[in-house]
Amino acid sequence: MTVHELQQEILRLKREKNICILAHAYQSQPVLEVADYNGDSYGLSVQAAKTNADGVIMCGVRFMAETCKILSPEKTVWLANPMAGCPMAEQLDLPTLQELKKQYPGYAVVAYINTTSELKTACDVCVTSSSALKICSALENDKILFIPDPNLGGYVAKQLPEKQFIFNDGRCPIHAKITPEDIDRAKDAHPGAPVLAHPECTPAVLAKADYIGSTSGILQYATDHADTQYIIATECGIGYKLRTQNPTKEFFFVEPLPVCEDMKFITLEKIAHVLETGEGEVTLEEAMRRRANAPLETDAGAGQIKRTVHMEK
Ligand code: 13P
Ligand code: SF4
Repeated sequence: MTVHELQQEILRLKREKNICILAHAYQSQPVLEVADYNGDSYGLSVQAAKTNADGVIMCGVRFMAETCKILSPEKTVWLANPMAGCPMAEQLDLPTLQELKKQYPGYAVVAYINTTSELKTACDVCVTSSSALKICSALENDKILFIPDPNLGGYVAKQLPEKQFIFNDGRCPIHAKITPEDIDRAKDAHPGAPVLAHPECTPAVLAKADYIGSTSGILQYATDHADTQYIIATECGIGYKLRTQNPTKEFFFVEPLPVCEDMKFITLEKIAHVLETGEGEVTLEEAMRRRANAPLETDAGAGQIKRTVHMEK
């Protein structure tokens, strides 16, 4: 089967079964082309919750599919390839977090959405890379234990000097690999091009960025601004959307090219397999799902605190 034929088969099956396909911005072009919705990790789950599809296939990594299930318990949710995990989300386990909580009593636990559902059950508030600053700033508690990404947490902490932050030892292996020298080389090759970086990059890289934001933020910035060339410091998959949304502009990725292998585990063949067999369903025990949903109720996307944050559960 050609790529086009496989895409047509996927579109036919998903229509027939009333299934919606979500694809994160780091997915490959053929996958993005069959998706009903593209977007960032939390935005996709919010979209899925609004559809009247019976099922949802997440083309992304496991924590994204779990977030989708947390927000849409009545829908069948699949991860297009059950092998696709986020190494950063899996760096911190529940016993280690419980230890940290004991060590830092009185701290609000703020979790980046890139965490397992199990970890979310032990957190107070969940944030995305776009809502982290607003939510941390709005928290009544001035003491924050920020997990699992000290790079995103450090970026937020720098802007909230009145608050006290504690971090665990974690990182996204893909973004952490980007060095300030990689940025300098790109700047030398493309003088004047603004640098757009994801906040999972290290502080030394972020110090050289003109704009720091989530995948949606980077796409929005490049679309809204008049510059015709941009240097991009995040996973290379975002290039497809940047270029299709801005056909007259040029995008240069830092070298070596940042590639998240887990995101690339998703292929058209894997999506077709899920549609044909129903394998790869993501299930969460209901009590756990409810507890994992509580920190998401702060409306991680909008950055509004909707409920009082209780320190003890
Ligand atoms: P976004 O929420 O910005 O899409 O980021 C998710 C992610 O995994 C970045 O590496
Ligand atoms: Fe996780 Fe990093 Fe891959 Fe994003 S790019 S899914 S944070 S490993």
